[in-house]
Amino acid sequence: MSRKIHVEILDDAEAVGREAAARILAVVERKPEAVLGLATGSTPIPAYRELVKLAHERKVSFAGVKTFNLDEYLGLSGGHPQSYRQYMNKYLFAHLDIPLWQTALPDGAASDPEAECAAFEARIHAAGGVDLWLLGIGSNGHIGFNEPGAPRDCRTRVASLAPSTIEASAKDFGGAAGVPRQALTAGVATILEAREILLLATGAGKAPAVAAALEGPITPQLPASYLQAHPSCAFMLDRAAASKLVKP
Ligand code: F6R
Repeated sequence: MSRKIHVEILDDAEAVGREAAARILAVVERKPEAVLGLATGSTPIPAYRELVKLAHERKVSFAGVKTFNLDEYLGLSGGHPQSYRQYMNKYLFAHLDIPLWQTALPDGAASDPEAECAAFEARIHAAGGVDLWLLGIGSNGHIGFNEPGAPRDCRTRVASLAPSTIEASAKDFGGAAGVPRQALTAGVATILEAREILLLATGAGKAPAVAAALEGPITPQLPASYLQAHPSCAFMLDRAAASKLVKP
C-alpha cells in the first residue's frame, strides 16, 4: 500500500525546526487570519525559535492569527511555571504580535473541566476549524495526551497520562511523583479535523513510534497511526527519528 502521509527526512533537529517554521509561516502569509493548532514539549522549540526569527525578518504579522494548543495539565493554572500556557508564552507568543486573547489552551484550573473541554471544542468550531495543526509524538505513539487505547472518535476531554508519559515529564516536575496524572487534551477526532497536520519528531527515542505510526496498522494502541487516514498530513523527521523506517 502506498503511503499517504508525506515524509520529509532532514539532517537534524535544527533543520526540522527550520523547515517546520517555513511551513507554518507560509500558512500565515497565505492566510493572515489563519487558525493554528500548536503543541508543546521539547520537539517544537527549534521550530518556534525559527518561526519568531522568520516572522521578524519577513515582517509577517500574526495579529490576525488564532491558535489552539493541544493540551494542558489538569490542576495547573496558566500562571503555574510548568503549565503549557507559560511554555507557549515563553517560546512563542511573547515574541509575536499575536494578542494573547487569540491564543487558546484548555484551562487546567477550570472549576468544571468537562465544561471547559466542551467550550474549547466550541471555540475551535467558532474560529472556523484549524488550518494547520502542529504535533509531536510520544515514544508510546501518543498525540496530544491521547495515550494508547484512545478511540478514533474521542474529542477534547480529561485523559489520564500513561506511565511512560509521566516518566518523560518527570524532569519538569522534580521527579515523577510531582507530575499531574491527568490532562485536558484535544481528542483524536478534534485533531483529525484540522485541514492540514504537521508532525515533528526528532531523536532516536522516537524512531520506533514513528515507524509504527507510518508503517504499522491503524490501531488505537498507537494513536499517531490514526494520522494515516488524514488527507493532508506530513511528518518532518530528523535522521535519528527516521532510522527505523523500512521504507524511508
Ligand atoms: C505536547 C503534546 C505531546 C508531545 C509529545 C512529545 O503538547 O501534546 O503529545 O508532543 O509528548 O513531546 P516531546 O516533544 O517533549 O518529546
